[in-house]
Amino acid sequence: MNIRLADPAAFAGCDTLILPLLEGPDRKRAAQVLPGALAVLAKTPGLDDAPFAPKETALLYAPDGAPCRRVLTVGCGAAEGLDTARLRAAVAAAARLARERRAGSLAVCLAGLPLPTQEAVREAALALRFGLYRFLELKTGDDLPPDPEDAALLPGEAGGDGDPAAALRLAEAEAAGVALARDLVNRPGNHATAARIAEEARALAVRHGFSFQVMDRAAIEALGMGAFAAVAQGSRAEPCFVVLDTAPEGGRPLCLVGKGVTFDTGGISLKPAAKMEEMKSDMAGAAAVLGCLEALGRLGSPRRVAGLLPLTDNMPDGGGVKPGDVVRTLSGLSVEIINTDAEGRLLLADALAFAARLEPEAVVDLATLTGAARIALGVHYAAVFSPDGELARRIREAGLPLGEKFWPMPMDEVYAKELESDVADLRNVGRREGGAIIAAMFLKRFAPEGVPWAHLDIAPTAFQDAATDFWTKGATGFGVRTLIALAGGA
Ligand code: BES
Ligand code: MN
Ligand code: ZN
Repeated sequence: MNIRLADPAAFAGCDTLILPLLEGPDRKRAAQVLPGALAVLAKTPGLDDAPFAPKETALLYAPDGAPCRRVLTVGCGAAEGLDTARLRAAVAAAARLARERRAGSLAVCLAGLPLPTQEAVREAALALRFGLYRFLELKTGDDLPPDPEDAALLPGEAGGDGDPAAALRLAEAEAAGVALARDLVNRPGNHATAARIAEEARALAVRHGFSFQVMDRAAIEALGMGAFAAVAQGSRAEPCFVVLDTAPEGGRPLCLVGKGVTFDTGGISLKPAAKMEEMKSDMAGAAAVLGCLEALGRLGSPRRVAGLLPLTDNMPDGGGVKPGDVVRTLSGLSVEIINTDAEGRLLLADALAFAARLEPEAVVDLATLTGAARIALGVHYAAVFSPDGELARRIREAGLPLGEKFWPMPMDEVYAKELESDVADLRNVGRREGGAIIAAMFLKRFAPEGVPWAHLDIAPTAFQDAATDFWTKGATGFGVRTLIALAGGA
């Protein structure tokens, strides 16, 4: 689907025009402020009765002389307090219905909305892409309604200093990053192996002129990443450690570290069977980092960003790492592996120690790290952990308007007590209660010293078992937009 900006006064026409409606005195304001050929839409039969409650729709036939065949109204609720989230939810819902009704071409009317033009354009474009996202790679049947071929965004008269064309470019870059992350996460473990994801990362680097490095099992072991190697030990598939860099000569990088467990069975500490298939999503951190880099590449962002991706599956095997085994990490610390299902912190420990070698300005890791984070926060907020209050605040504030909500969690040394081992420097699990915090305290031991660091536990939000407003069922691509903003791309 091609998305473009069009001048409402000179709009040539489409099959279905999406018309957001506001509640109260502003009801139908959109229809009343339409310029040129669109003004006739005020006479659309049934418009007066169309619902304005959030996401409620009505599909109406346009009056004679209108530049569209149908008008699809969608409620946005009260004008007061209209925010990006409500607009996104409305446009995404309308886009899905339009496709179901086989609209060949769309327009979205953004007139009369109390949002700056560039914000309305950015969020509407994203909502179209997010709402229409489907993962079809592995389906052979083609009885599904096709995507519309063309979507025109009709900006309103409302000002704002931004350039709508730049807003659309930004939205397209963000949408491409999110779609890339969603595809990688939705792809099952036998398709998204470590080597295949590394190949995808290489192609991304080539597309955008980034540097690319990959280490195989022998190189990971030779470098001394004993914790990462231990997780990969039971795997027949080759593990990969990928390093991408947007500008290797460009000063101190922002380091993004993504957990890349392509499938988490739990290893010898095997998980129960129920819902285990969802553990194909255990590389969502790595996918979000790749999604961010894809967007930065498209935007030609000047900032130096490095992506570190430890990639492997976590399998039970005769040669696999066992509970009680002690391994040596890249940092030099020894770790007693009490539970092989606490594997994410093991590969992140080595990746964080590796990050120190790049002399980063800041380090952010993303990981579907703990079920405990889901228990704590449900499925709508991810957890942010950071000893650096300023970095945690920046992440929260960046994510909020972008539909990526983070909640701060404590980092207090009292929790680290849990990680004392009888035989090694530390053990990889503590008690169940507060498990997300204990995991974060484990990572803290390996984060580069004196460098702002944040750990994002995205286990709550990375993969959904039902669609929400603008997340489709399955992978959400959570984190991509926040990372782009942090990296200065938006
Ligand atoms: N990948 C899981 C965490 C997870 C669980 C992500 C559910 C998404 C949904 C992680 O590797 C894991 O297994 N964590 C264990 C840690 C425990 C053994 C201390 C957990 O959360 O149970
Ligand atoms: Mn696990
Ligand atoms: Zn895991």
